[in-house]
Amino acid sequence: MTTFLTGATGFLGSYIAAELLSNSKERIALLVRSRTIEEAEKRLWRSLQLHMNFQTYWDHRTQRIDIHLGDLTEPGLGLNKASQERLLESTDSVIHAAASLNRKSEESCANVNVKGSLEVALLAKKIHDLKPLRRYSLVSTVAVSGIRENETVQEDTAIRWNRPDLDPYGRTKKMSEYLSQRVLEGIPLTIFRPSAIIGDTRFPQTTQFDMLRAFAWMAKMSVLPLDPSWRMDIVPADFVGKAVVRIHKSDHPRHPIYHLSAGLASPNYREISDCLTSEFHKRRTHFSPGLCGIFMKSCDWLSNSRLKSGLVRTARLVNVFRPHLLGNTVFDNSRIVEELEERPASFVSYAPGVLRFALDHQFSYPFLPFCQPGTQKEVA
Ligand SMILES: NC(=O)c1ccc[n+]([C@@H]2O[C@H](COP(=O)([O-])OP(=O)(O)OC[C@H]3O[C@@H](n4cnc5c(N)ncnc54)[C@H](OP(=O)(O)O)[C@@H]3O)[C@@H](O)[C@H]2O)c1
Repeated sequence: MTTFLTGATGFLGSYIAAELLSNSKERIALLVRSRTIEEAEKRLWRSLQLHMNFQTYWDHRTQRIDIHLGDLTEPGLGLNKASQERLLESTDSVIHAAASLNRKSEESCANVNVKGSLEVALLAKKIHDLKPLRRYSLVSTVAVSGIRENETVQEDTAIRWNRPDLDPYGRTKKMSEYLSQRVLEGIPLTIFRPSAIIGDTRFPQTTQFDMLRAFAWMAKMSVLPLDPSWRMDIVPADFVGKAVVRIHKSDHPRHPIYHLSAGLASPNYREISDCLTSEFHKRRTHFSPGLCGIFMKSCDWLSNSRLKSGLVRTARLVNVFRPHLLGNTVFDNSRIVEELEERPASFVSYAPGVLRFALDHQFSYPFLPFCQPGTQKEVA
């Protein structure tokens, strides 16, 4: 049977696809936003090369990966008739990981996270009406819990409809959870809420750099306008990928919702800063929380200015991640730790390597080209 997965061309989706491919012999059906199958194959190779070499990718592509061209924002996901029929016939479970993470765009988040999630849920319902779906897994986010300060958030009380939302992303992911629960009544549904996903504990390479830019800035500063005791909940991508697939494949997960997070073991800024600055210089960062207000006002001013400089880019980045940087809030992970009998590695144990990789490669991944199968010819 086949698992239908959305978002495999993205960072976390590639981990989920790789985990599904390495942990069973089942087929996977991937929704890819491309015009042609050839273009989709190249895009998948870009995302999966973090996890496998080209030959392994191509073997999987030819034997176990079924590509479906489509777009979450289109009615019926924009699938052609043949794709729809194949999915209705072969799908046994669904993992919906695709999303818009454009925190500033109400439009993009609403279209992809609300309308798109509804379309995926409706397709799942159609499949289920023909043949019971084994499981529907929805990748959500801890951002659904809105603006929090100095809290340890639990899964069952994370969503409060009378609380202010963080941003369009958090708001629309919250709506996506709600409508998925309503549409999928009667279908086994699991919701995963990762915290900030950064890097991999097994190797320093990564393809996602936004937060690392913020940490690089942090590592270089001799004074930080933050409280050193504030914690930040960060989880490695390999843990999240493994957790999603293990629970998705389990016959009887113990809970309907899981935080995939560092929880109470989250490091504080002193610990994060000590591990990152040691990569650059020997002196210890000085923390000055009293400067936080003026610093954030400066970031607002710079973000809205027409200046073009690295400083403006950093200010915009700080603004995007502001709620995570300042909230001092973590997300209880006891459910997933108990069920997997495993804790995520602490960010400080692998962060220096990931940051070094990012700096050495100017915050971009040195993608290998797509090789024409059966030849050594590279295809642009
Ligand atoms: N990264 C984090 O720190 C983090 C933390 C918590 C939760 N999450 C959740 O994890 C999931 C994956 O996030 P990510 O970091 O991997 O994001 P990402 O790298 O931006 O990947 C997003 C994926 O969604 C797909 N997608 C977006 N719009 C689409 C559309 N209209 N039609 C079809 N596919 C579309 C993208 O396809 P294209 O390649 O075609 O754009 C891509 O495959 C999301 O549900 C997110 O909310 C992420």
